[in-house]
Amino acid sequence: MKIAIIYYSTYGHVGKLSATALEALKEANVEADLFQVPETLPQEVLDKMYAPPKDDSIPIITVEDLTKYDGFLFGLPTRFGNLPAQFKSFWDQTGGLWANGALNGKPFGIFVSTGTPGGGQEATFRNSLSSFIHHGMIYVPLGYGEAFPLLTNLEEVHGGSPWGAGAYAGADGSRQPSELELKLVQIQAKNFASVVEKFTSTKPAEVPAEKKVSEKVAEKEPEKVEQSTARQAQQKPAVKEDDSFCSKCIIM
Ligand SMILES: Cc1cc2nc3c(=O)[nH]c(=O)nc-3n(C[C@H](O)[C@H](O)[C@H](O)COP(=O)(O)O)c2cc1C
Repeated sequence: MKIAIIYYSTYGHVGKLSATALEALKEANVEADLFQVPETLPQEVLDKMYAPPKDDSIPIITVEDLTKYDGFLFGLPTRFGNLPAQFKSFWDQTGGLWANGALNGKPFGIFVSTGTPGGGQEATFRNSLSSFIHHGMIYVPLGYGEAFPLLTNLEEVHGGSPWGAGAYAGADGSRQPSELELKLVQIQAKNFASVVEKFTSTKPAEVPAEKKVSEKVAEKEPEKVEQSTARQAQQKPAVKEDDSFCSKCIIM
């Protein structure tokens, strides 16, 4: 079982959540790799946004890489309650994988970052789902479970929801993911790995091919089938043998 954590991050918050998810998976002896999607903004714009340099030690994901993994954790900093264009731009190159069903049935989870509470964490989960659902991928939420005391904690401000872990960056990006938010992404990563393991270790059940209706009737009421076959033989339509379009065309 191999999991890929794939993220975009301008200011490092989702980068931190992603690195924490990776550590949690390694701790649990799960084979996992961390990737970032390619940046699409010109350096001049990034400078004006006060974006720090990207961590060059983290490889850039390619479309081909995706086929090597059994499950995916996607790290998404919100953009107006939706996934960032950088991630969408990468994902929009996966049409070939979509067409041949390469990612069909593969589980995925999402974690997010927003500036503030009410900034659209849950909207980001929901709005990004379509990109992955069209591939036939299976969404694995965080849920409550082990995360219950953290998600229901009203003593401190925190991101995250049953949809997945989440951090608040603050309106100016100065807030860092809290201990609670980092714990949530650790729980999510481990929970996700246990689900992917179930998917990869389960032998597909041998489902017998569905019988035709006529076969089912033949089993239940053989005499009806005999009568019907005799009737059909009498009513057999004429076949025009030398038709110029098709020698087997049936004249109605
Ligand atoms: C174009 C743009 C749109 C944004 N839209 C929202 C938003 O709708 N709600 C919100 O809370 N934060 C919004 N933010 C703030 C980012 O979500 C925040 O900077 C990000 O979560 C920080 O993660 P990062 O450090 O990994 O880049 C926006 C930021 C940018 C640049």
